[in-house]
Amino acid sequence: MRLHVADHPLVAHKLTVLRDERTASPTFRLLVDELVTLLAYEATRDVRVEPHEITTPVTTTTGVRLAEPRPLVVPILRAGLGMLEGMTRLLPTAEVGFLGMQRDEQTLEAITYANRLPDDLTGRQVFLLDPMLATGGTLVAAIDYVMERGARDVTAVCLLAAPEGLRVVQDAVGERLDVHVVVASVDERLNENAYIVPGLGDAGDRLYGVV
Ligand code: URA
Repeated sequence: MRLHVADHPLVAHKLTVLRDERTASPTFRLLVDELVTLLAYEATRDVRVEPHEITTPVTTTTGVRLAEPRPLVVPILRAGLGMLEGMTRLLPTAEVGFLGMQRDEQTLEAITYANRLPDDLTGRQVFLLDPMLATGGTLVAAIDYVMERGARDVTAVCLLAAPEGLRVVQDAVGERLDVHVVVASVDERLNENAYIVPGLGDAGDRLYGVV
């Protein structure tokens, strides 16, 4: 697994406002959107491109365009949905799939309750969106899910990660270099309820209110 922590003052500033318990949902949603766009820039560093010839007003030159098959962006419901716009802003031609995963609050195991993804992901680059990499259970299940269907490389875009969760992902994927995690911050630890500390609370609740 390759880990990239977005070390940038704008990321740190926006993250600080996001963490603040006084930040209400509308501002929280806006900040998540902005942060994801900044993370998307890093996350797409290895997006596959192919040569593309064009004519400028002056001459003919060869640039690049996104290669086929198009990348697949997969928000993990519910909180990952808040990251979708920020990601597709930089990858407007990406296909979008959905994975509904929830952790069982007793066992803390990940349960898949919905999926809307192509059956065959052979050769696809997949970007998984999940704001909180806490225990790592959900992310490992999602990585397994897309890799079993043939995904060639998988990048998880997360706002915060706990060291414990990163270790779980690392143990599950080993030295595979085609699993990449991009985060805005690696926080201190998980608490007894598997919340990230200092964290930002429940990302889904803060994005959408408590349901
Ligand atoms: N999920 C959240 O929304 N917040 C945490 O701190 C951990 C998991």
